[in-house]
Amino acid sequence: MMLRVDRIRKDFPILDTGIIYLDNAASSLTPEPVIERMLSFYREYRANVERGVHRLSQRATHEMEEARREIQRFISASAREEIIFTKNATEGINAVARGLRWKRGDHIVTTLIEHHSNFIPWQRLAQDCGVRLVLVRASREGEISLDDFERAVSDQTKLVAVTHVSNVLGCVLPVKEVVRIAHEHGALVLVDGAQSVPHMPVSVRKLGCDFLVFSGHKMLGPTGVGVLYARADALAELDPLAIGGGTIDEVSSKGYKLAKPPEGFEAGTPPIAETIGLAEAVRYLRTHGMTAIAAHERKLTRELYDGLSSIERVEIYGPPPSKRTGIVAFNVEGLGPHDVAATLDNAAKIMVRSGHHCAMPLHREVLNRPQGSVRASVYLYNKKEEIERLISVVEEISRSLA
Ligand SMILES: Cc1ncc(COP(=O)(O)O)c(C=O)c1O
Repeated sequence: MMLRVDRIRKDFPILDTGIIYLDNAASSLTPEPVIERMLSFYREYRANVERGVHRLSQRATHEMEEARREIQRFISASAREEIIFTKNATEGINAVARGLRWKRGDHIVTTLIEHHSNFIPWQRLAQDCGVRLVLVRASREGEISLDDFERAVSDQTKLVAVTHVSNVLGCVLPVKEVVRIAHEHGALVLVDGAQSVPHMPVSVRKLGCDFLVFSGHKMLGPTGVGVLYARADALAELDPLAIGGGTIDEVSSKGYKLAKPPEGFEAGTPPIAETIGLAEAVRYLRTHGMTAIAAHERKLTRELYDGLSSIERVEIYGPPPSKRTGIVAFNVEGLGPHDVAATLDNAAKIMVRSGHHCAMPLHREVLNRPQGSVRASVYLYNKKEEIERLISVVEEISRSLA
């Protein structure tokens, strides 16, 4: 099924302002049905969840529970208990870093292409808890050999933390195989799905991972809400990051008894409107179809990649289009990435990201581009003409440097 992009674009009035939004890997736009759904919480049943018997609280609780079920279905999790709402992907990763019970000498395996959110929490554990961080390198294309993973993972490995899709190279990592290797050694696997869940069908059942994190704001939802999926038996190994109101079964002057997950992991009043908004974003994505969205993005990415690679002085990072999602990072030789991004905005209202994209080890130690890169990233509402415009402005920039 082809996406009906012109119809989809009508749900994003911000696009009528003449902008070309190609910064989707940083954060996506939000369609009207999602905004409306959040507004209906504020207009019709604005109350706290879980704690009230009155009708507004009951309705809010019901809607939030429905949201949890929606997310559960979206990633094919087995039970509602496995879906923990967080602030964002970063908080989910920190919840695992802080929540697992580490001992000196445990190993964590991760890669050099990770976003800082899936890197520095592990560095901190290495500094604070005597855990050893084992790094898997990548080729400039982002190719990570499974042999390297085989060598890195051992019986000391407690956790393998790996991104599903690189936020710079756009490459898709062979997570299923990584999970197989890790589980052979009794290690848990955390998958950073911040760049995969919004753009392709993702099933935790198929991946077999123990933890998966992602953020609402990158998948048409609002800011302020994310998800930590934790497989039921992996949950048993996790202590909550924060406790307080909403997380207990009983409290007395002598102590407390924590509630079972997910409630025991969601301290304080949750982001109610945001959670409901995220579920609506998921419904929107499902209506259009994750397979169709992925196919649409692949087509645009091929055009983007082919167009940019034919321009003199342009260097693209990562694998060929057949092996990447909708992210293309590049540089124009002789110009810094921020200058290129500013020119794209000033000349044609094209929004792209520039800098290191929270992936300094990758830019410095793998790509040897400490200045960072320019990153264009597509989503379901982008169209061919927008890609052509980006290519023609980059061409002009390149020509002006001749
Ligand atoms: C691969 C990856 N992981 C983690 C994150 C962090 O997401 P958030 O800032 O929403 O926590 C990002 C955001 O850019 C990302 O691209």
